[in-house]
Amino acid sequence: MDTFVIEGGHRLFGRVRINGSKNAALPMLAAALLTDQPVTLRDVPSLADIRNMLKLLGELGCTSEAGLVDGAVRLQSTDESLSHARYEIVKTMRASICTLGPMLARRGYARVSMPGGCAIGDRPVDLHLRGLAALGAQVTLTAGDIYVKAPPGGLVGATVFLGGSFGSTVLGTANVMSAATLAKGTTIIESAACEPEIVDLANLLNAMGAKITGAGSPRITIQGVEELHGADYTVIPDRIEAGTFMMAAAITNGDLTLDNCPMDALLSVTYTLAACGVHVQPLTSLPVTSTNGFGHGNGHNGHANGNGYANGNGVRHRTPALTITSGSSDPFRNTDNDPMRRSVRVTCDRVLRPVEVTTQPHPGFPTDLQAQLAALLTLADGNSVITERIFPDRFLHVAELLRMGAKVIRQGSTIVISGVRGLVGAPVMASDLRASAGLVLAGMAAQGTTVVNRVYHLDRGYERMEDRLRSLGACIERVDEKVAMGAEAVGAS
Ligand code: EPZ
Repeated sequence: MDTFVIEGGHRLFGRVRINGSKNAALPMLAAALLTDQPVTLRDVPSLADIRNMLKLLGELGCTSEAGLVDGAVRLQSTDESLSHARYEIVKTMRASICTLGPMLARRGYARVSMPGGCAIGDRPVDLHLRGLAALGAQVTLTAGDIYVKAPPGGLVGATVFLGGSFGSTVLGTANVMSAATLAKGTTIIESAACEPEIVDLANLLNAMGAKITGAGSPRITIQGVEELHGADYTVIPDRIEAGTFMMAAAITNGDLTLDNCPMDALLSVTYTLAACGVHVQPLTSLPVTSTNGFGHGNGHNGHANGNGYANGNGVRHRTPALTITSGSSDPFRNTDNDPMRRSVRVTCDRVLRPVEVTTQPHPGFPTDLQAQLAALLTLADGNSVITERIFPDRFLHVAELLRMGAKVIRQGSTIVISGVRGLVGAPVMASDLRASAGLVLAGMAAQGTTVVNRVYHLDRGYERMEDRLRSLGACIERVDEKVAMGAEAVGAS
């Protein structure tokens, strides 16, 4: 197993391109099951979860060619007799559930192993099943597998309510929306997830011939069609990766430019960061607004920045005067006027301010950035409060941050973080994808060496994270766990 060894106290500086979105790409890959024609997806990130999904699709009769120009993946469903997503694959990746709706709609039948809980919570799929049942599917659970079967004439459009105790469901909306594209008549999904990944999926499905309106709002309307065809589509950039890099810039008192940044999907994040003293400024000439952290005229240009709350070495750094340039280094397209593909510069004030944040479904603050924000707020000047409303137990990073000298108290689904002047490097354990990202951020700000174990969690959602951070100035190495343990033992002797 791999670990990251991080020497903290190095300021991040430079330019990085945000990759295509993992969580948009996963249901879009599964959508290739809705047609026998080729579907090409571009800017698909090279990640463990994506490789697992391609492997699963292969087992379901859908061939794929990955690693093409522009990060393209070309898929084609060639054998529709294979409809069993086995436990061995599903247990490695919960997003396997995305294959359920497409197989049901196109093949009339599917058997998908029931995903279990994971480090961030129980994660039921009752809403997915309720939605598919509303379209007429017969749903049964046997020996850990979900069996769904369409009625003899095929699925029938219906009004489906997808709200649950914790809001709507992202992948549940993806499943029902995908299935409804081939149902007879009209389907209305009420309390649909409004996440940008759902909008992207709807755009792909429409490019394949579906008739979907309202994606991005709580009511999505789908007019069923006879069949879908192939398409060539570029996945949106990853808003969670972008938010993670923004917080990496802030926690190291750095100065980063992010290209291909989906600003339109990040308003709650930039708003929260602005309240902390982190400035995210687009490098284009588009009009600015006053509430989202853009163009705030905060006078931070050229100020003396950072007496080492993030730099264990206590060195003061000066943020260079801000130069607004136009254009983007995005290799695929000219993105000047696309709010989902901006170039932005991230800088921060010398002292971070505490904030109160509640994670919520989109457009609220995303649960997938909660751990990274928690890491950042350990160094704010005062008490911050984070309440987790999507996955109330998603706090496994807290115990690890405590090991690094953070002051955090948990009460149910809320944590109170009392900012400290500095973190101290320590061996810590990654427990899930985003918790790992939070620990890497903390390690880059801490004094001394942090060893983050089990980075395979991180590899599920961040492509070559250590290389990209190193190119921005971080001191971070991927090493085998045994080597890292040996180094620790030598250090201790
Ligand atoms: C998606 O998971 C993402 N995964 C998650 O990202 C993300 O944290 C989550 O949405 C919330 O934004 C992918 O897109 C692959 P949900 P999903 O169904 O769709 C409850 C990451 O780190 N619920 O929207 O599985 C559920 O327990 C991952 O990249 C039910 O009660 O999440 C939770 O409290 C982690 N019944 C809430 O709804 C259901 O049938 C939202 O879950 C389904 C969900």
